[in-house]
Amino acid sequence: MNDIITTACKFVTSSIGRKILVALTGSCLLLFLVGHLAGNMTIYGGCAGCGGTSWIDYYATGLHSMPAWLLWAIRLGLLAVALIHIVLTLVLKYENYNARTHYQKEGTLKATLSSRTMVLTGIMILCFLAFHLWQLTFNGDPANCYDHIKAAFTNPWCSAFYIVAICCLFMHVRHGVQSVLQTFGLATRKVRPLYNILAVLFGIVVCGAFISIPVAFLTGLLH
Ligand code: HEM
Repeated sequence: MNDIITTACKFVTSSIGRKILVALTGSCLLLFLVGHLAGNMTIYGGCAGCGGTSWIDYYATGLHSMPAWLLWAIRLGLLAVALIHIVLTLVLKYENYNARTHYQKEGTLKATLSSRTMVLTGIMILCFLAFHLWQLTFNGDPANCYDHIKAAFTNPWCSAFYIVAICCLFMHVRHGVQSVLQTFGLATRKVRPLYNILAVLFGIVVCGAFISIPVAFLTGLLH
């Protein structure tokens, strides 16, 4: 038992162990994002605008019909994963910065805009999440989920805020997916451009689909 704990501690305190944990927790958050998007896409089903019920109301009610302890266990698990991801990323960032030479700190390293702004876009996503949870989770009602989303997105300022936040999410996810692929995939120079293409495609599909919802309300496609 002691051996397992010692090995686990050595893993977490090693640089490569932390990198793997960041990639694992990042992958869990990406999975949540895809799941959340799939749930949100049910907003396009049913006919809420013509007096019917949107499928998203059934989806949200179904989600809340699970036992409260299970819902909270999932939420706390997600929170723990997000906290581990944030803390370990900051530790790695600090270590990398200290390990660089003065020459490299002057900015001569070739890095994409997404990779250079990871901390900034991460903070923007956290601010967005605080607002989002306050607006739709803690002040929402699963049975009237469609109406709550409609009330939010028929306000152009609110829609604009979501669109800007999801653009930040795109930059974060784009670099995140590429890093995960580099940590778990082949590390040869040849496949790197492929990782970049996959990361951009993933970001465009996921973030584009999220953005389609406020845009659909603003343009009257959903009403
Ligand atoms: C147009 C975009 C989005 C819409 C319409 C939307 C809609 C919703 C709704 C209705 C809920 C409440 C679910 C419920 O408890 O019944 C929710 C919760 C949540 N959303 Fe979103 N969301 C959007 C984008 C995002 C994005 C981009 C993220 C992540 C960066 C996100 C993260 C979350 C989280 C963490 C929760 C809390 C889940 C829980 O209840 O435990 N959402 N969202």
